[in-house]
Amino acid sequence: MQIPAHGKSHANVKAELEAFAARDATWRDGKTLGYIYDAGPEVEEIAKWAYMRYLTENALAPATFPSLMQIENELVAMAAAHLGDVPGVVGNFTSGGTESCMLAVKTARDYARAMKPHIEEPEAILPVTAHAAFQKGCHYLGVKKVLVPVDPKTFKADPAAIVKAITPNTVLIVASAVSYAHGVLDPIEDVARIAQKHNLNFHVDGCIGGFLLPYFKRLGAKLGAFDFRVPGVTSMSMDFHKYAYCPKGASVLLHRSKELRRFQMFVTSDWTGYTIVNPTIQSAKSGGPMAAAWAVLNSVGDDGFMRFAERIYQATQTIVEGIAKIPGLRVLGAPDSNQVAFTAEDFSCFHLIDEMAARGWGVQPQFGYHGSEANVHISIGQKTFDQANEFLAALREATDACRPKGFSQIAAKVKSELSRMNPADFKPAMLNDLMRAAGIEDGQLPRKSAELNQILNVLPPKVTEFALIEFMNERYLYREKK
Ligand SMILES: Cc1ncc(COP(=O)(O)O)c(C=O)c1O
Repeated sequence: MQIPAHGKSHANVKAELEAFAARDATWRDGKTLGYIYDAGPEVEEIAKWAYMRYLTENALAPATFPSLMQIENELVAMAAAHLGDVPGVVGNFTSGGTESCMLAVKTARDYARAMKPHIEEPEAILPVTAHAAFQKGCHYLGVKKVLVPVDPKTFKADPAAIVKAITPNTVLIVASAVSYAHGVLDPIEDVARIAQKHNLNFHVDGCIGGFLLPYFKRLGAKLGAFDFRVPGVTSMSMDFHKYAYCPKGASVLLHRSKELRRFQMFVTSDWTGYTIVNPTIQSAKSGGPMAAAWAVLNSVGDDGFMRFAERIYQATQTIVEGIAKIPGLRVLGAPDSNQVAFTAEDFSCFHLIDEMAARGWGVQPQFGYHGSEANVHISIGQKTFDQANEFLAALREATDACRPKGFSQIAAKVKSELSRMNPADFKPAMLNDLMRAAGIEDGQLPRKSAELNQILNVLPPKVTEFALIEFMNERYLYREKK
């Protein structure tokens, strides 16, 4: 494919993009319970206006675009006030949760480089429930990830396991408020005490929970302390593009002090171009996401967010109670938030993904690792409030449809074959055989995912990772339409 020799009309360009989008999830119906955080048309309208107004302005150059520095500082101030209102807290706007988490790893690594220069191979302690973004940060930044088990029943971080994992090389401990997979709040105060005692950086990941939890507390949820009011918390992340309903590309990383934030930055004047001083990973940075975030926070306001939070809070209670009443289904742990994971006793829960999709609902598979069984994950949104009973009715029906399906014979076969094999001997050609065995032909994404997910779920993580890279490497290829 080449750039078209002659530009197409706007009408044609729009029509083609609309045609692509026709295959996507119809998320405005509120039935996509993952990836989407939708406050409805009014919020969408103001976000779009602000995004387009600042689309081309560049936050790389605050002297040229002082408006963007003002917008960023106001967003950070609102976030800091939301997370404890502790004097001295500073922060920056980032492109998303992953960037915020990665920068928390960088800050801890570079702080240790400056303050603890004897550490040559820095380590970060990550409860297995900490978001994968921290593993990505460790991977990119040359920090060793040290995974530690969590409580097998509650899925909360286990302070004793964290203490055990501390070595002279530890630079960072991470805990979640809340964890994505099970929606639980880690014992932040206990972990903070450990971090303080050992003089370690301690990051609380509030990417998905940080914005909602203060509202849930005001609604009466019994939740432990989790923000900067807890001594020992050195940094926190919180995403505006989740439950603050801002367009994607909007998160914040906060530090307890300016002294700590120094280590988040990158600076160089050691090249032939303009001086680079980047607080975050991006350099050139559209003003769109931050202007849209500012617009949404200011137009929805605390009272508006409270109303959205209440709808989520109630919908979550209805759904968690409803799932518990469906014979054969079981919620994992006791979610402190609207992130809910559940599994099935008598059949592979991955069949529910397909059966719910057939009924118009998008729910997400999570594999069974580190003591957390294979499960189905849902992020309950404010739109779910009006549809909670409809969701439960669909889930009851889907469960009935899944019962006869049992468990995959192929996955069982793969499991037994793999048990005889060294993962290092696994070859790409074997992967294709596996995929074909699961009914997935070359270049095709599976329409029914249950078989594929059951196979991936039995592969050891290293093999699954290998398989997923092969899979994506094949899919991200332009193929000429025949
Ligand atoms: C707890 C937590 N941390 C980090 C992230 C990563 O955020 P993003 O997808 O915006 O990069 C997520 C995403 O769901 C999350 O739930």
